[in-house]
Amino acid sequence: MAVRRKNDEKRDYLQKKRQESQLGGGNRRIEAQHKKGKLTARERIASLLDDGTFEELDSFALHQSTEFGLDKQRFLGDSVVTGFGTIDGRRIFVYAQDFTVVGGSLSLVAAQKITKIMDLALNTGAPMIGLIDSGGARIQEGIDSLSGYSDIFLRNVRASGVIPQISAVFGPAAGGASYSPALTDFVLMVRGTGQLYITGPDVIKAVTGEEITHEDLGGAESHASKSGVAHFAAESEEECMDQIRRLLSFLPQNNMEESPRGQGADDQDSTDQTLADLIPDNPNQAYDMTEIIRRIVDGGEFFQVHELYARNVVVGYARMDGRAVGIVANQPEVMAGVLDINASAKAARFVRFCDAFNIPIVTLIDVPGFMPGSSQEHSGIIRHGAKLIYAYAEATVPKISVLTRKAYGGAYIVMSSKGLKGDINYAWPTGELAVMGAGGAVNIIHRNQLKDADDPEQLRAELVKEYEDRLINPYVAAGRGLIDDVIDPSETRQKVIRALAMLDNKREVLPPKKHGSIPL
Ligand code: HXC
Repeated sequence: MAVRRKNDEKRDYLQKKRQESQLGGGNRRIEAQHKKGKLTARERIASLLDDGTFEELDSFALHQSTEFGLDKQRFLGDSVVTGFGTIDGRRIFVYAQDFTVVGGSLSLVAAQKITKIMDLALNTGAPMIGLIDSGGARIQEGIDSLSGYSDIFLRNVRASGVIPQISAVFGPAAGGASYSPALTDFVLMVRGTGQLYITGPDVIKAVTGEEITHEDLGGAESHASKSGVAHFAAESEEECMDQIRRLLSFLPQNNMEESPRGQGADDQDSTDQTLADLIPDNPNQAYDMTEIIRRIVDGGEFFQVHELYARNVVVGYARMDGRAVGIVANQPEVMAGVLDINASAKAARFVRFCDAFNIPIVTLIDVPGFMPGSSQEHSGIIRHGAKLIYAYAEATVPKISVLTRKAYGGAYIVMSSKGLKGDINYAWPTGELAVMGAGGAVNIIHRNQLKDADDPEQLRAELVKEYEDRLINPYVAAGRGLIDDVIDPSETRQKVIRALAMLDNKREVLPPKKHGSIPL
């Protein structure tokens, strides 16, 4: 019989400690977690990462607090599981808050675990993913846990624009737990369980008297469609993991790299003769811009970001001849595609992310203008609309645009125009570019003539026609080089792919500065 050495006992002890740490807050709490329809932190990591690739760090970390009975609630690893692994073979860093340990609340040691891997992610240039399920700062620890959040927020900001940062919210994300996701690039939420808010329903009731449920206040639907805090809402944890993996497939590891190139398309020279049929003859009739997007990208696959928020503009990722591209498009089907405050902010944020991470931007334009009205003016459409101008003007990645129909006024300028250094600007023959629509223009420039006319309606119709014939077509802009070519709709995919290939080596450098001052 083999003699058991002292070292074997030490190895056994390690196994025992490991098993203990794997249990987090214990079997009873794991059961409670499952009963709520939620996975545990470790189950989430296992379901997200490539099989067997997760390397856990700090599984023996312990909090040191003795306040308010915390000494009796000490669990190996504390309230977060941290480490690294791969997704589709690519390195990522991940932390998952463990709700079975003191409600996933953030202790000082949990914050130290998280900031340790954030530093590693930043220093090695790999995406950082946070899986959130937390009651916020650990109340019993006081300032220690609170300052732990500031350490995380600081790193979120310093890593911004260097590595992609993704937060997925599976349970509560109360108080401090809500601000780290807000500082990251993408927020995903699971319907029914993910709940983000600064102050919960009880505090709200005490302070303002308002009664509201957790879900209505901070659930996935509210944040994906109303506040815009969430970019994606998922029906289940599994769907949420799929969304994270799909999102990552379009992103580079860091700002020094390019997105992974997919398979080249063998239909890149093909034309789509029916594309033109999607635009109605009546310029006031709506159509679905996402249909055009799907018809020009590889395999018809378009991954929308912020799909439920500010639906009058559409943003998302696709591939064209294998290259990952960010697509920004007005959506005539929703509010005629007008740019309002939310749409401007949504598109601006997307453009800035693409620019930071070397993702070319393809813009599809059909926009009647900025949204008029006192509500928009008083809420700051000028300031928020300026964000989109700022984002496009600042972006130095390849910028290609296709005008399918309307481009009026400031909205013409903002949507990747030549003046904002659009690299290639195409227009379909149905393109309409002008300061404003013919009706409004005639009312202003012919006001006196119309006032004195015997038959103002007849004259008005004639003047509108004259304005349309003279100005509302793409050839005036093409004649001035503001549109590079008027293309047949059927050629769109081919033309955009060729423009992207031509711009592969684009280099444009902005003047050195600390950072710009975007109108926030
Ligand atoms: C300490 C906490 C905690 C916290 C939850 N727990 N949140 N302990 N600090 N922040 C504990 C609970 O007391 C409970 O312990 C266990 O975790 C599970 O919580 P339950 O309440 O039983 O779960 P549930 O019913 O699902 O409700 C979850 C919850 C609720 C909605 C998150 O626990 C809650 O409202 N917690 C407080 C949220 C909050 O106000 N956070 C703000 C912190 S201040 P036992 O042992 O009883 O099972 C903050 C400021 C930072 O974060 C600001 C930075 C900008």
